[in-house]
Amino acid sequence: MSVECFVTGGTGFIGQHLLATLSAKGHTIRVLMRRPERLAALREQVDKLGGNATRVFAVAGDLEQDNLGLSLADRETLRQAKVVFHLGAHFAWGLSLAHSRAVNVEGAKRVALLAAEQNSRLVMIGGYMLKNHEHLQRIGIDPRYPGLTDWPAVYRRVGAYEGSKIEAHFATLELMSAKGGEMTVVHPATVCGHSRTGHILDGQPLVELIRNLLQGKLTAVPGTAKHWLPLVTVDYLVELVAACALDPAMAGQELLALDSQTPGLRELLAEAAQPVGVKPPRHYIPLRLLKLLLGIPPLARFLNTKAEALDFIQTTRFDTAALEQFAGRHGIAKPDIRQSLQHTATFVNAYCLAKGKSR
Ligand SMILES: NC(=O)c1ccc[n+]([C@@H]2O[C@H](COP(=O)([O-])OP(=O)(O)OC[C@H]3O[C@@H](n4cnc5c(N)ncnc54)[C@H](OP(=O)(O)O)[C@@H]3O)[C@@H](O)[C@H]2O)c1
Repeated sequence: MSVECFVTGGTGFIGQHLLATLSAKGHTIRVLMRRPERLAALREQVDKLGGNATRVFAVAGDLEQDNLGLSLADRETLRQAKVVFHLGAHFAWGLSLAHSRAVNVEGAKRVALLAAEQNSRLVMIGGYMLKNHEHLQRIGIDPRYPGLTDWPAVYRRVGAYEGSKIEAHFATLELMSAKGGEMTVVHPATVCGHSRTGHILDGQPLVELIRNLLQGKLTAVPGTAKHWLPLVTVDYLVELVAACALDPAMAGQELLALDSQTPGLRELLAEAAQPVGVKPPRHYIPLRLLKLLLGIPPLARFLNTKAEALDFIQTTRFDTAALEQFAGRHGIAKPDIRQSLQHTATFVNAYCLAKGKSR
């Protein structure tokens, strides 16, 4: 069955792979683009990633604008969308509160409103920290009463990107519930490159980590032997996202997309170092000490790491039983995460070492 889809964030890393997967399955996709003149390049990329570019179309717009900046004609065309996938976000460290809120929170609400108005299923991409309830509690959020949250305090604590993603999640749930809209949320772990090709885009947090490793800037493992950085490969993730969208049982549900077999951080680094032949770090540096060191600007520049990124390295373990059941029901096979990491490191070494090469 071919379905009309509207995708925000389709030019980004996860978005490109989602377009490839959806179009290969025969769906038609309209992509919100700030620069629609880049459609030809996007289509070329969709084909390269195994999709069918003839099924991908651009709609000019911007998450920051009222009504997403859509023309009346495009707004009409989008009414045919059965599913709205919201992936668009400003994903970076060091953002301001005002900017991250304007794009990530207000943008998500605009997309949700559009989906609710026209009875499309909204599939929203959240983040796995939303499934770490201890973390939410620690930073001052009670998921049962998000309206009581002091958001500026949360942003100060975890940084504007993470703060805005969490606020966007609760704001969107509230809006969809008030409007009676249908919504599914997928919460990905940190995204790893494609399980066979290693394809990943520069700017991804895993690229930063691997780049630092390959350039000898990671001389110690952040955290302890219990710390890990949960991963999910991009191809497994987009298969899950696509399946969620058309599964009636997933209306009103949230799915954690995380590979529980991701090794501990020291082993993860060893796995990434192996195909490139660099020596991985063996000793640990406590996260608190590392955060203190990052307060010293020359050291922070040398280490090329932001304190915000370190929050994703944690000791919490997650229950993935629901994910395994869902993937099994849809026949979606989970790739081997260690091999995927090795392919990703090989790809980063070949295409991302000089910044800005992999788009
Ligand atoms: N990657 C991860 O490890 C990870 C983990 C958990 C959750 N997520 C979430 O997954 C989603 C996609 O992440 P990603 O890694 O694919 O991000 P990405 O590569 O940085 O892509 C971001 C996308 O958002 C679009 N965008 C940014 N600002 C916009 C605006 N004002 N109006 C319209 N579009 C705008 C970008 O379009 P342009 O091409 O115009 O810049 C791009 O298509 C995000 O919501 C992110 O928070 C990612």
